[in-house]
Amino acid sequence: MDFYGRDFLRILDFSEDELRYMLTIAKKFKQYKKEHKMHKFFPDKNIAILFEKTSTRTRCSFEVAGYDLGMGVTFLDPSGSQMGHKESIADTARVLARLYDGIEYRGFDQKIVDDLAKYSSVPVWNGLTDECHPTQALGDFMTIEEHFGHLEGLTLAFVGDTRNNVANSLMAMSAKMGVNFIACGPSELRPSDEIVAKCRPIAEKNGSTITITSDLAELYGKADIIYTDVWLSLGEPQEKWGERIELLKQYQVNSEMMAKAKETAIFLHCLPSFHDLNTSIARDVNKVFGIDEMEVTNEVFESKQSLVIDQAENRMHTIKAIMFLTLYKKEEK
Ligand code: CP
Repeated sequence: MDFYGRDFLRILDFSEDELRYMLTIAKKFKQYKKEHKMHKFFPDKNIAILFEKTSTRTRCSFEVAGYDLGMGVTFLDPSGSQMGHKESIADTARVLARLYDGIEYRGFDQKIVDDLAKYSSVPVWNGLTDECHPTQALGDFMTIEEHFGHLEGLTLAFVGDTRNNVANSLMAMSAKMGVNFIACGPSELRPSDEIVAKCRPIAEKNGSTITITSDLAELYGKADIIYTDVWLSLGEPQEKWGERIELLKQYQVNSEMMAKAKETAIFLHCLPSFHDLNTSIARDVNKVFGIDEMEVTNEVFESKQSLVIDQAENRMHTIKAIMFLTLYKKEEK
């Protein structure tokens, strides 16, 4: 396996063995971190992390992982760079690649990160686009494997807005890892036929299935993992809240749903989450629509079955593994 110089743009760009190897390296880095073992492999390198959308976990994970690996890290947001406003993606990519050893991008169209990678001579890492969130899926599968001790044969049910970027990457990762994937949500918010058509043959090859359904009964007694995400994704217009609540309220993850999954089922969420009224957005929605919990109840979010904080931590270890593998040139060391 040779990762050196490669981009990390989507899960489907990597083989099953490559993805498993990334998880192995992430586990190693997690162990190093717990043992306070220094792993500053790249004191001579610098990375740029570009965020056109807000972030807590992804930004902090790239920053901490970069520092842990000994690198300098430059954060740029829309107000701090010319990208897209005064300077094209192609020019930005070519200039940054002369200054930095790797570039992370979070933003809108997948074409932007694809173009950055096309014009950059250093690795580009996808920190979320409208199409996919591959570093999220890798961190989530690390969490699932840590908990169950294996991946193959498990069933992951993504409940709610099943055509969002996180669901797309989880479907791809499930197919690659032989995990059954159930997308359960309203027919208006189903995954695209294109992504399903790409993932289904891979899942079949690896002995798993992909089910697209609106019927919650499909996951009852089967789901090892119940996963959900916010009902309105980053960048979507706030005016859509009413429509989304109407469509998705029956898919709220609550204790009744968890009780109908497998007895050993866990709950995952990529975060941030609207499980209480401790955010300004949740309070605004509450004022208009009268609901105080959205995609997941506070009871489930705070339950023993919920591994959401482990999941957030594993973002950093997996992002570190991706950066390490794509920057490490064997013969240099
Ligand atoms: N899950 C996730 O991507 O979190 P942030 O938006 O905080 O980076």
